[in-house]
Amino acid sequence: MKTAARIDDIAPFHVMDILARAQVLESTGCDIIHLEIGEPDFATPQPIIEAGIAALRAGHTHYTGALGLPQLREAIAGFYATRWQAEVTTSRVIVTPGASGALLLALGLLAGPGDEVLMADPGYPCNRHFAQFCDARAVAVPVDADSGFQLTLQHIERHATSATRVILIASPSNPTGTAIDPAELARIHDWCGAHDVALIVDEIYLALTYDGDEHSAARWADVFIVNSFSKYFLMTGWRLGWLVAPAWAIDGLERLAQNLFLAASTPAQYAALAAFSADTLSELENRKAELHSRRDYLLPALRERGFIIPVQPQGAFYLYADCRALTNDSFTLAQTLLETIGVAVTPGLDFGQHHAQHYLRIAYTQPLPRLAEAVERLDGFIRP
Ligand SMILES: Cc1ncc(COP(=O)(O)O)c(C=O)c1O
Repeated sequence: MKTAARIDDIAPFHVMDILARAQVLESTGCDIIHLEIGEPDFATPQPIIEAGIAALRAGHTHYTGALGLPQLREAIAGFYATRWQAEVTTSRVIVTPGASGALLLALGLLAGPGDEVLMADPGYPCNRHFAQFCDARAVAVPVDADSGFQLTLQHIERHATSATRVILIASPSNPTGTAIDPAELARIHDWCGAHDVALIVDEIYLALTYDGDEHSAARWADVFIVNSFSKYFLMTGWRLGWLVAPAWAIDGLERLAQNLFLAASTPAQYAALAAFSADTLSELENRKAELHSRRDYLLPALRERGFIIPVQPQGAFYLYADCRALTNDSFTLAQTLLETIGVAVTPGLDFGQHHAQHYLRIAYTQPLPRLAEAVERLDGFIRP
């Protein structure tokens, strides 16, 4: 049977092949160090789990409204006030199935056939596919170390056309962990306002910022802000995120949500109510501190071994390492590292085209002793 043409343009996620191969190797007894997958190794905090179980026992197994559980929307709005000193009205918060659901809603609202969505290359790969799914054109703008692997106003002025409808920024970024300069974001925000272009800022890693302040774009009421319970809140598998949207957009987004997925998972929404308690937040801050110390260990360790990481990544849990000292083919290198030393990493090719063959994304989602073991194995590989 013939499938839709858009399917041909959806690139596979190479990391899933790496993961599958890693699992085969593990089944034969190999010890694999997993630095490929973009999710923390920590379990969801216990209060959230308990709240989820209690919700199931209490029979909270029916749909919520498409915009989400009112108490949760309110709690999310409150988090903006306490954590980021940003005023967000509850009515502008939409609870979604992960940040993925939020990105799909925002792009579904804003981008259609003939429209262009500007985004950084390297960047989170699903974004270009979301745009394509909306029959819009993803314009991948090559970014380098000189701009901290983030879009600048100059990039935007160079690549925008009359078809540009959306600028999509993720800060801190996946795969680079680097954050956008707040002054540059303000300039981009002004440009978007002047050109009637929507600005989406993906802040899924914002609460995992180790250096400097956490600047949320929620200080502007006309920006679409994507966030999630997946990363900082350690709830990847619960599939829960949110979108903060301008007031004018809520009606259209609600109709889209009603039709695309009806609502986010109800038990997950009840569970997430416990995510904002003092106990949970204190555990999450401890986890964040652990991630921070992993970064501070792995970043110099990789640099000492010839990997080029020109900009210190301020957040997330990724190092985007230029490995041209070892190879011009990071895709093959990722396979070789897995096969020979049992270290699984993600090839740059998963994040775009720009110098992708020189880069590996290394996720520090393993405890420090395992990271040290990975570095030791790398030593054996580099200097046998
Ligand atoms: C930048 C970025 N945005 C969105 C997502 C999707 O996350 P979620 O699990 O909330 O759907 C990810 C997941 O890795 C990501 O890295």
